[in-house]
Amino acid sequence: MTNKTSIQGSWASRWIFILAATGSAVGLGNIWKFPYITGENGGGAFVLVYLACILLVGIPIMMAEVFIGRRARKNPINALMDVSEESEGSRKWGIIGVMGMLSGVFIFSFYSVVGGWVLHYIKVMLTGEMADITSDQAGAAFGALLADPATLLGWHTLFSIMTIAVVAAGINKGIETATRIMMPALFVLLIILLGYAMTTGGFAQGWNFMFNVDFSKLSWNSALIALGHSFFTLSLGMGTIMAYGSYMTKNASIGKTVLAIGALDTLVALVAGLAIFPIIFANGMDPAAGPGLMFISLPVAFGQMPFGQLFGTLFFVLVGVAAWTSAISLLEPTVAFLVERFKMKRTNAAITLGVAVWALGIACLGSFSFMSDVTLFGKNTFDFLDYITANIMLPLGGILIALFAGWVVKDKFAKEELELSGTLYALWNISMKFTAPIAVAVVLYFLINPLT
Ligand code: PHE
Ligand code: NA
Repeated sequence: MTNKTSIQGSWASRWIFILAATGSAVGLGNIWKFPYITGENGGGAFVLVYLACILLVGIPIMMAEVFIGRRARKNPINALMDVSEESEGSRKWGIIGVMGMLSGVFIFSFYSVVGGWVLHYIKVMLTGEMADITSDQAGAAFGALLADPATLLGWHTLFSIMTIAVVAAGINKGIETATRIMMPALFVLLIILLGYAMTTGGFAQGWNFMFNVDFSKLSWNSALIALGHSFFTLSLGMGTIMAYGSYMTKNASIGKTVLAIGALDTLVALVAGLAIFPIIFANGMDPAAGPGLMFISLPVAFGQMPFGQLFGTLFFVLVGVAAWTSAISLLEPTVAFLVERFKMKRTNAAITLGVAVWALGIACLGSFSFMSDVTLFGKNTFDFLDYITANIMLPLGGILIALFAGWVVKDKFAKEELELSGTLYALWNISMKFTAPIAVAVVLYFLINPLT
């Protein structure tokens, strides 16, 4: 391939790529979603399946996404088309990119609503409204927020504008700075929270809940959720990592880079779980409380600890930043596509897409109030979009990327890009050809045809 760089620009260094991709990966998926779905799906066995999916399916697919993007140096649709063409003379695999962009739009619409919850909690922490709150009061306060569409709309709009502004500014100015400073700070605060969780008396119970494996608690639906979450949390199956890979310079090893990103993402999720569950158990709360888990448990914890108001505010600021850097990456592939395919100005592309996803977000925030009657397959809009993206669209996109990288892309190209040979290459290749597609297919099969 001839393009040396993407017309969108390049990351300043390999580290910046790692930071940006980590910024995309580490987000609400780790701190909000992972603990609550672990709680809903019974703990240990779910965590084990999730970790296996990250290692056996997620990491190899992430390598494929990065190399396809980097090879073509274009937005995901065009990158897939180009690599498809040079491998088999047809551009048909570009279709994966189309589905990916749709996934990005759907995910953004509920992601931004949750981002809005986080912004609201920054305010609540800062003003001390939640000092010394009991767990019942914290639950009621969260419920009241969900039932208040006007407040939610304000925060959702603010979060959307913040995201669109960075995407409009381009990859170098916006994304890098946010990630470089905020990610380490987020991690330090999580450790502080973990330290507090250890003093609550619920730590052993929290630890056991997360790491005692009891397969009788695992259903095929839970396995699908674990698999789907491994895609969601690593930002896979929709082109985000492919787009970020297209801005990567040639002088970086894809394998090591991707391992670092996967390890950081996993670490943040596990620490978030270990910080949240002890608080849940120590206060007699329900681990299966659902999406409100973090928003109900953490204010109680901050209300009880010294300097809780300060730490609480800081914590939600950092979660907000983590959500923000992920939200940016949800829009980036489509904006790059609009710029490259339709020659739109970046600003116009970001605003056009931004208005569309913001509008869809209104249906998500209304799911808890004025649109609670509107259901699809028994789920409100918010839950439905969350479910079909994470559990169907991303795994499907992932399978297709794996099949494409394993069976269609010429070995020679894959070896060149990944700089792998011998056993390591064989392992990656087996994962693309067999392990990843079969794992996804088996879980989907048993979900549709339960054993009993
Ligand atoms: N990985 C992000 C998170 O864990 C969410 C995300 C999914 C971002 C897909 C981009 C693409 O919060
Ligand atoms: Na994540």
